[in-house]
Amino acid sequence: MKEISRETMEKIEKLLTHYPNKRSALLEVLHILQNEWGFIDEEGEERVASLLDISPVDVHEVVTFYTMFYRSQVGKYKIKICRNLTCSLLGSDTLLNYLRKKLKIDVGETTLDGKFTLETVECLGACELAPVMQINEEFYGRLTPEKIDEILEGLK
Ligand code: FES
Repeated sequence: MKEISRETMEKIEKLLTHYPNKRSALLEVLHILQNEWGFIDEEGEERVASLLDISPVDVHEVVTFYTMFYRSQVGKYKIKICRNLTCSLLGSDTLLNYLRKKLKIDVGETTLDGKFTLETVECLGACELAPVMQINEEFYGRLTPEKIDEILEGLK
C-alpha cells in the first residue's frame, strides 16, 4: 500500500473534519497526496479511495479528468507555456520551440535528469503579461528566449 507520511495524514484527517462527507474532500486530498507522491497512479487512486470510502473508479475519473493531476513521475519543475490567443500572437510558439530545443524534450516529456517537464496550457489568466509561462506555482511574463535562459538558470 502506498505510504503516507504522518504529517500528511494529520493534514488530511484535519481536512476531513471540515466536510459532512469524506467524498467532498476528494480534490483537496488528491492535491495533498500529489504533493507528497509527485503523481497519482493506480496504486495512489486505490489508497485515496480507501481513505475516503469511495470506489477507485470514482477517484480514477477525477484524476484523469483534470490535467493538474499527473499519472507518472514528472520533473521537479513543471513548465507550462500558454498557447492561447494573446500569448500565441506574441510568440508563444517560438518560445515553445526554443524550450523544446534547449531542454531536448517535446511537450509532455521530462528531461533525463528529472528536472523539467514541458507542457502547454490554455490561458493562464495573465494575458496582460503575454507571452506567459508558469513554472510550478510561479508565473513569468513578457518572455523572450533570453529571459527564459535567465529563469531556468536561476532554478539550477
Ligand atoms: S492568453 Fe496566455 S495568459 Fe491569457
